[in-house]
Amino acid sequence: MKNTDQYKCPVGKQGRNVAAAMNRGHKNLTTWGLTFVDISPESIILDVGCGGGKTIARLTKLASKGKVLGIDHSAEMVRYSEKVNKKLVEEKRVQIFERSVVNTGFSDNYFDLVTAFETYYFWPNLQSAFEEIKRILKPKGKFLMTNEMIKDGVYEVKHAEIIKEAQLCLYPIGDIKKLLESVGFKDVKVFTKEGSAWNTVLSYKLGGN
Ligand SMILES: C[S@@+](CC[C@H](N)C(=O)[O-])C[C@H]1O[C@@H](n2cnc3c(N)ncnc32)[C@H](O)[C@@H]1O
Repeated sequence: MKNTDQYKCPVGKQGRNVAAAMNRGHKNLTTWGLTFVDISPESIILDVGCGGGKTIARLTKLASKGKVLGIDHSAEMVRYSEKVNKKLVEEKRVQIFERSVVNTGFSDNYFDLVTAFETYYFWPNLQSAFEEIKRILKPKGKFLMTNEMIKDGVYEVKHAEIIKEAQLCLYPIGDIKKLLESVGFKDVKVFTKEGSAWNTVLSYKLGGN
């Protein structure tokens, strides 16, 4: 089995190796994505598709008086993330659950921020996922999605091999914006990094700023 087969739902030793690689490899992308959102110290945050859990650790530094929850549909990733965040889990500042983005089980209006790094292209139904994220956000809540690949005819071709191997379902960024707006997100902003395929989409449940 290739490592790329493991991106969608990491399992076993190979899955754990992929988690470690993602924790290292997504650091710069995550740093870049997080520059587009203000996070107040008291924030309650959910990281969807938390993978190896390093982003959760970083988010707790930004939400220093708040709480960070993570979900992943891979049991392996939940265990891995709990290990990576052992102390924070013991302090009850972090909780990680084996759940899917389309059925998170959280209460309505619960989170100040939902983040999703490098994961949307595995979700079974993007519209249902966006509706679920909107439901669990507080009225002033924000949704931040950051990805290193884009479907734009140039990068799609550049990344063709990995897109095929990892079974990624990429959408054009304009379609993502329209879909977010159609489920009711407001002030949807798209940021792209010059010369690369990196992209961030920031949207608000009831309007920004
Ligand atoms: C490429 S990894 C990215 C992990 C992490 N966000 C990062 O940036 O390193 C994608 C993650 O999304 C998770 N995932 C895929 N589909 C999911 C779904 N429907 N619900 C929750 N998690 C999902 C996978 O199990 C995997 O851990």
